[in-house]
Amino acid sequence: MDMTEQKPVTQATAAKVSPMPDAETVTQVQHYTDRLFSFRVTRPQSLRFRSGEFVMIGLMGDNGRPLLRAYSIASPSWDDELEFYSIKVQDGPLTSRLQHIQPGDQIILKPKPVGTLVHDALLPGKRLWFFATGTGFAPFASLLRDPETYERFEEVIVTHTCRDVAELTYGRDLIDDLLKDEMMIELIGAENLAKLRYYPTTTREESPKMGRITTLLKDGTLFRDLGIDGIGPETDRAMVCGSMGLNLDLKEILEGYGLEEGANSDPKHYVVEKAFVG
Ligand code: A2P
Repeated sequence: MDMTEQKPVTQATAAKVSPMPDAETVTQVQHYTDRLFSFRVTRPQSLRFRSGEFVMIGLMGDNGRPLLRAYSIASPSWDDELEFYSIKVQDGPLTSRLQHIQPGDQIILKPKPVGTLVHDALLPGKRLWFFATGTGFAPFASLLRDPETYERFEEVIVTHTCRDVAELTYGRDLIDDLLKDEMMIELIGAENLAKLRYYPTTTREESPKMGRITTLLKDGTLFRDLGIDGIGPETDRAMVCGSMGLNLDLKEILEGYGLEEGANSDPKHYVVEKAFVG
C-alpha cells in the first residue's frame, strides 16, 4: 500500500503521544519546602552533556508558545534520566505552573546543553571549591556525582548557604547518599569520596554554622573551620552558582585572592553562573 495514504492516521497518533515539540515525561517529583522542589524527566536518547551544564526547559504557554527558562541539569552525565532542582515563585510565569507537575506529565526540554560550570573551563589544580546558594546547588549536584571531579583534584569542598535549615535538605540528602550508596561508592571510589568536604550554612535560621559564605570567607572563619591557610591561584579552583549578588561578591573576593575567571575556550582558576530565579 502507498504509505502516503496512511499519513493522516500517523500524524494523529503522533500528536496524541507527543503534543509538544521536544516533550519529555516527568518520572518523579519531590517537594522540599514551599519554595523548593526537584523533579526527574526522561532523557532524550541523543542528549549528551557535560556535568554542570544547563538546558532550556519549560511548559507550553497559554499563547501557544513555549515558556522556557535556563535550568542546570542536576543529574550526572551518566544518568538515564535528567534531574532538575527548582525554586517555586508563586507569581513567576513558569515556576508558578511548573511546581504543579506530576509524574506522567510532559515538559519541554531543548536538547542543547551549554554552560561555564564545567571542568573544561578550569585549569588543573589541587583543591576544587563549589560555592552555592539556594538552587545554585543544582550544577554541583551533577558535578558531585561525576567521577572526573574527584580524579582531577585532591580535595573537593562544597559550601551551600540557604536561608533556613529545610532549604539545605536537597544538597544534604544528595551528599549523604553519595557517601552511603554502594553503587556511587563503586562508581566514584571510596578514596575519591574521602576528598569531599561539605560546609552548609544558614543565614536566617539557627544552625550549627551561620552566616553568608562571603562573610565567612572575609573574616577567615571558613579557613579556620576547614584548617586551610587560604585560597590562591597555584592550588585552588572554584565554581560559583547563586544569586546575582552572591556571584558578584564572590567574584570580587576570588579575584582578591589572585584567581582569574575562566571560560570553555580559555580555562583559568574560577567560573561563575547565575542560578535560575523566577
Ligand atoms: P540572606 O538571608 O542574608 O539574604 P535566596 O534564597 O534569597 O536566593 O538566598 C539564598 C542564600 O544566599 C541566603 O542565605 C542569602 O542570605 C544568601 N545570599 C544572598 N545574597 C548574597 C550575597 N550577595 N552574598 C552572599 N550570600 C548571599
